[in-house]
Order: sequence, then structure tokens, then C-alpha cells
Amino acid sequence: MSKIWESNFSNKAKNVRPSPIREILSVIRQPGMISFAGGMPAPEVFPVKEFHKGVDALLNDGPNLLQYGTTEGYPPLKEFLSGWTAPRMGRKVSLDEMLLTTGSQQGLDLMGWAMIDPGDYIITEDPSYLAAITAFHNHGSRFISIPVDARGMVVEIIPEAIEKARAEGKNIKFIYTIVNFQNPAGSTMTLERRKKLVEISHKYNIPILEDDPYGYVRYDGEHLPSIFSLDPDGGVIYAGTFSKILAPGTRIGWCSGNKDIIRKLTVFKQATDLCSSPITQALVYEYCKMGYLDSHLPNIIANYREKRDAMDASFRKHLPLDEVSWVKPEGGFFFWLDMPNIDAKTLFDKAIEKKVAFVIGAPFFANGGGEHNARMNFTFSSPEVIDEGVKRLGEAMREMLK
Ligand SMILES: Cc1ncc(COP(=O)(O)O)c(C=O)c1O
Repeated sequence: MSKIWESNFSNKAKNVRPSPIREILSVIRQPGMISFAGGMPAPEVFPVKEFHKGVDALLNDGPNLLQYGTTEGYPPLKEFLSGWTAPRMGRKVSLDEMLLTTGSQQGLDLMGWAMIDPGDYIITEDPSYLAAITAFHNHGSRFISIPVDARGMVVEIIPEAIEKARAEGKNIKFIYTIVNFQNPAGSTMTLERRKKLVEISHKYNIPILEDDPYGYVRYDGEHLPSIFSLDPDGGVIYAGTFSKILAPGTRIGWCSGNKDIIRKLTVFKQATDLCSSPITQALVYEYCKMGYLDSHLPNIIANYREKRDAMDASFRKHLPLDEVSWVKPEGGFFFWLDMPNIDAKTLFDKAIEKKVAFVIGAPFFANGGGEHNARMNFTFSSPEVIDEGVKRLGEAMREMLK
């Protein structure tokens, strides 16, 4: 490292952690490798033709859309989203209660800017979304970890955790939860727990960040109301995204919430990227306006449901069933394997030799743990490739258990 840079780095730069998933991408790109590592949508579900029609429509308004846009986001897309999300949100949010973001990842980072001073605490699920932990960590946050079970975050233990933390002088800024088909654990928070979480939020005066990239990608069962819709008092901010229901390359997400917090996020966004790409927002709007968001979603769901079922069947066929357990998720992108007698890191090295990749559990735990877990993505590969990959993984496990 060159001295002129290193000696001048910020404390943040000294503490920054690269994403373990992005770091293993070079390994995953080896020829012949089957990867269950990334959280990527299937390329065959991208609506390329429909997008093309949108591009043609847009050219009429080209000069406008090639200009800078407002930080708040492209108003027609916000109008559309306000109506489209209303059933899930319990009402239409107004335009000043919504900010369009560069992916929902930016919404998470902006929450860090608005809420976290170095040394503050965030209550997170344990395990939780790696890149959220990293984004909050970059703002200097620490974490109070609450376990996740098959019914979502174990909210019943949060009051005790808050009281203990406060007695120790810790400052808690918000509760971060991925309510539907959690990344990585796959579980969904029950309605009872959602209500309880809102009660806790008000009792202790701690707001909630509800991150919901997967909520619209449900394969079985009924949609549950968002936590946002259960809290008429405005203590919840909801982060959504087009990444899993359209394409992540759009980099368009949104945050909905009380207009004061939305305003704060907007002001931080002004200095972050001025605005999200106007032309992409307009393209996404054209796509939505032509009705493709609703007409295409069932194709995505059918494609992923088949792959989820394929991975579940391959697990049963190829894995040592006395040694591995999992919960079949009702939606989302991931299976989460529990392997009490298998060290995930050793398994990873063995699996790479056999040309199959996954993500080890440890990085998803903000305060340590996960040595015996693996996250397996099922949306990206075909059912045939899934079966071959799981077969290789099963062989790697059996060799370790010998
Ligand atoms: C839980 C969760 N939140 C947020 C994101 C960020 O998504 P994007 O920035 O593509 O909208 C992801 C992406 O995988 C995720 O899994």
C-alpha cells in the first residue's frame, strides 16, 4: 500500500470490510463451476423484449430524460408505485412520503447517514443480510443480534435485549428486519410477531426499517400485511426494489415512510448521487405503465417455484439427511442449511474442488456464529444444474463426515 494514501485514510477506510460474496466471485467464475453463491435472478426471466418497447416509447421524450432529474425521483414512477404498493402498504403513500433510490441498497446506506453516529447500536436479525450489516458498519454502528426461527425474528426477546443494552448505556437507533423470506434464513415473520414488533417499537421509541426485496416473490401461502401498514403512527420506513421483480440492472428501489425521515434521506442522497438515473426510472415507468410488472410477475414466480422445489428434492436425494436440515422457504431466493457437525468453511474448500460454490454462514452474523451454516441460492441455475450441484455438495459432505 502506498504511504501517501495509507497515512491519510479515514478511520472508516481503515475499518471497511470487503463483501465476502463479491470477493469469491473470481473463484465462482472458474470454468465448470456451479454457483449457488450470489443472490441473482435468472437471466431467462428478464423481460428484454418488453423493455425494448419502453425504449422506443421513451425516445419521444429523449432530451428531457437525458437531463439531470430531481433527487426525489421521477414523479410518474412514484405515482405508479404509490398505487401499486397500496394493497401491501395499507394505503397510498403520498409523493413526499416516498424517495426513489439507486437500488434498495442505497436506501439502507442513506438510513445509516440519517440515523447512525459511530458507536450507536442497531437491532438486527441474526443472521441478516450481509450488505446491510456492512452498510451500517461503515457508518460506525454496532449490533444487537436477535435470532431468527421459522416464524421470523424472535421479537419476544427484544424488550429484554433493549433494557439490558440501555442499562449498559448503549444507544439504539433502529430495528432492521427483512420480514419476508429472509436473506439468508428464508423464514417469514408471522402476523402476530409483526404486531408485537410495532408495539415494542412504540414502547421503547425505536423506529423500524422494514426491508422487503422479496415480498412480491411468494410461491405458496398468503401475503401478510407489511409492518408499515400495521403502524399508523409513522415509525416504520419500508424499503422496496425492482431488483427481484424486474431486473437488478435497473438499480431502482424506493423508500416509503414518514415525510420527515424521507426528507432527511433525500438531503443525504443529494450529496451521494444527485439523483438516480432519470432515463432508467422513465424506462421502468414505461414498463410498469404498459402493464408488464403485473403480467410478468407470475412468470418469475412460476420459474422460481419450480427451482425451489427442484433444490428441495435434490437435497432429499443427495445430502446426508441425518446431518443437514433446512426449512423450505415460501418465497424469496435462498435455502439456509443447518449442519451441526460440518464446518462450513472446510466444506466450502472441498466444494470448490468439486466445482460447486455456496456462501458460508459466518459473514451473515454481525456478532459471530454461523460456522455450521450455508446459504444456497436456487433462482439462478436450471433444475438440472441444481441437481448436479447439490450432488457434488452431498459428495463433499460425505467425504468430510467419513
Ligand atoms: C435483504 C436485501 N435487502 C436489500 C438488497 C439490495 O437490493 P437492491 O439494491 O438490488 O435493490 C438485497 C439484495 O440482494 C437483499 O437481499
